[in-house]
Amino acid sequence: MKVTVVGAGAVGASCAEYIALKNFASEVILLDIKEGFAEGKAMDLMQTASLNGFDTRIKGVTNDYSQTAGSEVAVITSGIPRKPGMTREELIGTNANIVKSVVEQLIKYSPNVIIIIVSNPMDTLAYLVHKVTKLPKNRIIGMGGALDSARFKYRLAEALKSPISDVDGMVIAAHSDTGMLPLTRLASRNGVPVSQFLSEEQLEYVSQETKVGGATLTKLLGTSAWYAPGAAVSALVQAIACDQKKVYPCSTLLNGEYGESDICLGVPTVIGKNGIEEIINIELSEEEKAKFKESASAVREINKALDNVL
Ligand code: LAC
Repeated sequence: MKVTVVGAGAVGASCAEYIALKNFASEVILLDIKEGFAEGKAMDLMQTASLNGFDTRIKGVTNDYSQTAGSEVAVITSGIPRKPGMTREELIGTNANIVKSVVEQLIKYSPNVIIIIVSNPMDTLAYLVHKVTKLPKNRIIGMGGALDSARFKYRLAEALKSPISDVDGMVIAAHSDTGMLPLTRLASRNGVPVSQFLSEEQLEYVSQETKVGGATLTKLLGTSAWYAPGAAVSALVQAIACDQKKVYPCSTLLNGEYGESDICLGVPTVIGKNGIEEIINIELSEEEKAKFKESASAVREINKALDNVL
């Protein structure tokens, strides 16, 4: 499989690295607008191949989309990351124009590509990609829920004092500090509901720390995180490449599901060779339904900013 990663910054490079380490793709094209930058990152990564034991060829290119031709999956990480104190939503003005131009060029060379959007504000930019490309909805995947769920599991394991591999849980709705909906009611410790081990207050703490997971890292690092975002993207790419039919919450265009339409928002999906192959409906509680609706309203407000771009 040929995969393109647009943006060779920390998230893009880490994503290319994890894809290579898992050794399921034949080729990764890493593209950046900064002269020589992607070439440098690709060369550095390729020099780890004999040490880390992978055969994926990583090639860096400076803004040359012809090199991306025939990609089956493309990951868009381009745009500016947030600085400490910023919300993802504040990036819309800059990132919407960048993502629009990136997808237009990608589609020209890879008409059958499945697109994974990582740039922020992710739900709004996934919606923008729908409007710009008019691709079938299964081929546009917003990456947020897979990352947020990994952060949720990290926080749950910490509270439970259990290994992360014993924990299961999912975060749906918007990929934003206030809009995320960690489903604590359905989270489990190896099949046992976590509410058996954690109090309401502890679950509320876990939820809150999950929601600000990206902001906490941005404050510590001075820029947004890259290891977990890169790992989350590579998991989605692998699910497509290996037709795994794995369930990940992803931002997808809703058409009545969860009571919403004409919006991209995180819901549980089945990921396989066709991208988003199914949306899984969960019966939400009244409280969860209200939070999902509130999250959707906030994203709709941000989507209005796209009127200047479309
Ligand atoms: C984060 C970015 C990728 O949450 O949105 O770290």
